[in-house]
Amino acid sequence: MRELQLLHFWLFLGIYLAALLGNGLIITAIACDHHLHRPMYFFLLNLSVLDLGSISTTVPKSIANSHWDTKAISYQACATQAFLFLFLISAEYFILTVMAYDRYIAICKPLHYGTLLGSRACVHMAAAAWGCGFLNAVLHTASIFSLPLCQGNAVDQFFCEIPQIFKLACSDAYLREVRVLVVSSCFAFGCFVFIVLSYGQIFRAVLRIPSEQRWHKAFSTCLPHLAVVSLFISTVSFAYLKPPSISSPSLDLVVAVLYSVVPPAVNPLIYSMRNHEIKDALRKVMTGCFLDGIKNLLSSA
Ligand SMILES: *[C@@H]1O[C@H](CO)[C@@H](O)[C@H](O)[C@H]1NC(C)=O
Repeated sequence: MRELQLLHFWLFLGIYLAALLGNGLIITAIACDHHLHRPMYFFLLNLSVLDLGSISTTVPKSIANSHWDTKAISYQACATQAFLFLFLISAEYFILTVMAYDRYIAICKPLHYGTLLGSRACVHMAAAAWGCGFLNAVLHTASIFSLPLCQGNAVDQFFCEIPQIFKLACSDAYLREVRVLVVSSCFAFGCFVFIVLSYGQIFRAVLRIPSEQRWHKAFSTCLPHLAVVSLFISTVSFAYLKPPSISSPSLDLVVAVLYSVVPPAVNPLIYSMRNHEIKDALRKVMTGCFLDGIKNLLSSA
């Protein structure tokens, strides 16, 4: 239906622009303000870069499709999209795990912060997150795109999503991808337990402080983080692990939007909402950073 297509077009365009704006602001604030050159903000920078990347692999193509009323994607483009999306989204999940660890150490073991999260350790952890994401994406894309496909070539989704391509595979080729899925799920579940335990420890530590204002601040900061991570992990598990019998196109669509489009758009809000340093940095950026940059450029030219 043309009306639905237009709705899809405007909705996705709006969400995409919001994600560009939010993540762009965070990246600019952290890059420009030297006070924010600390581990917590470097991880937030990683998160924003990954958010921008992951939403840019799927949504613009889908916007263009609905605008030009086409559904075509080449096999190579489909494989590239599936790979990049999986890489960025899994790296993002690992960065969220590292961020939970960072907050846990900062709040519960502040005296060890300097030794446990020195600049080398942070670079290693960030590199590990990107590396694990890359490895996960290679494993899944290689195993799914080497399967013989014999159920047609219609991917029932707004991007090349692995479970939808899986549906097109000949039924006797399942086992290899199932093995990869089991390994990834164990890792993802492990990270989730780690995140929940970290925030649990944070809540426990905060509750020992006899100040209701602090409690309020801690809970209103951490609960949204947990909510986003839980939404992400539950929708991803549903998309990848559900039996094929309970799939319907509209349900699949909603679930895919919830894990691939919503988190990159709301993360900037969730992770900087109650953060005064970011807000101050942004205010400064608006007034000074661009001018300084231009001055530097001119003087070095
Ligand atoms: C990611 O985080 C690491 C560790 O803090 C930092 O060195 C690196 O510059 C960050 N990379 C990006 C792209 O944000």
